[in-house]
Amino acid sequence: MKILVTGTHGQVDTSIRSCPSAKGHEIISIGRPEIDLSEYEKLKNAIINANPDIIISSAAYTAVDKAESEAEIAYAINALAPKAIGEAAAKLNIPVIHLSTDYVFSGDKPSSYDEDDKTGPIGVYGKTKLEGEKLLAAATPNHVILRTAWVYSPYGNNFVKTMLRLGESREELNVVADQQGCPTYAPEIARACITIAENLINDQAIELRGIFNLTGQGKANWAQFAKVIFSGAEKFGRKKIIVNEITTDQYPTPAKRPKNSLLSSQKLLDIHGIELDNWEKSTKECVKMLLQNNA
Ligand SMILES: NC(=O)c1ccc[n+]([C@@H]2O[C@H](COP(=O)([O-])OP(=O)(O)OC[C@H]3O[C@@H](n4cnc5c(N)ncnc54)[C@H](OP(=O)(O)O)[C@@H]3O)[C@@H](O)[C@H]2O)c1
Repeated sequence: MKILVTGTHGQVDTSIRSCPSAKGHEIISIGRPEIDLSEYEKLKNAIINANPDIIISSAAYTAVDKAESEAEIAYAINALAPKAIGEAAAKLNIPVIHLSTDYVFSGDKPSSYDEDDKTGPIGVYGKTKLEGEKLLAAATPNHVILRTAWVYSPYGNNFVKTMLRLGESREELNVVADQQGCPTYAPEIARACITIAENLINDQAIELRGIFNLTGQGKANWAQFAKVIFSGAEKFGRKKIIVNEITTDQYPTPAKRPKNSLLSSQKLLDIHGIELDNWEKSTKECVKMLLQNNA
């Protein structure tokens, strides 16, 4: 299978290229510096010329705070690029797997979000990602939209790497404890994407298509996540870090965050047979990947 992935240095696209289950498939990547996702026609033509069997649309404008002041560029990348990708896929008659986010929801629901819950993004990033979902779906019915959350990995920028970096120079850290979600390990997202790609190529059934949530198992707040990162790091000789729990009000950011980012991944298990690991197990794995060579 020839898989086209958007993005060249991101967490999920890098994880796909290094995914053991991708062996045996040809992976080609589209992204900067050759192609900027904001170049609509160039992006569409590049995909059509590459002639893949399936597209994994992973790249996005992910700078949540900066998006508040760069709405136009965020819209071009998060909304219009998925439209171009969907149109290219329709022309080639191939499926698209598109990554989306918990930020399409307001975060006001007290329990986990299901796929058909009402959306209501509270910031520019979430609004543009939701628009991207809609434009992609309008361009081609042959899609899977994967809503994930709190993504971390040994690659790119993420919470685990930030905590480990700050932990090198601090004795204690203040971390928000009143937002809950499910940390999701990008190498597991990659594995899920490959399985879904194989399912879509082998089976045209409409049930396999549509919107699916995809997160690690269990739940956490950011302070709990930080504590697991630091306890994992201690095994590699890092000093103990005290995590002080604070509220969102004590850590103001330009973009509002959903209070509840929990997504139920039950539909993905029922229909695609995919279940990710518990977030604590995967977090320890990620910390090990990052620190084992420095221990
Ligand atoms: N990170 C999270 O916590 C999170 C949570 C929920 C959903 N998601 C979704 O999951 C997907 C993957 O996220 P991620 O964490 O892997 O993102 P990431 O690490 O921030 O990587 C984003 C990728 O998009 C590329 N990109 C951004 N703007 C571009 C442009 N104008 N032209 C070409 N490429 C561009 C980046 O390229 P450069 O390296 O050149 O910048 C990079 O390869 C995204 O769709 C995101 O919305 C992420």
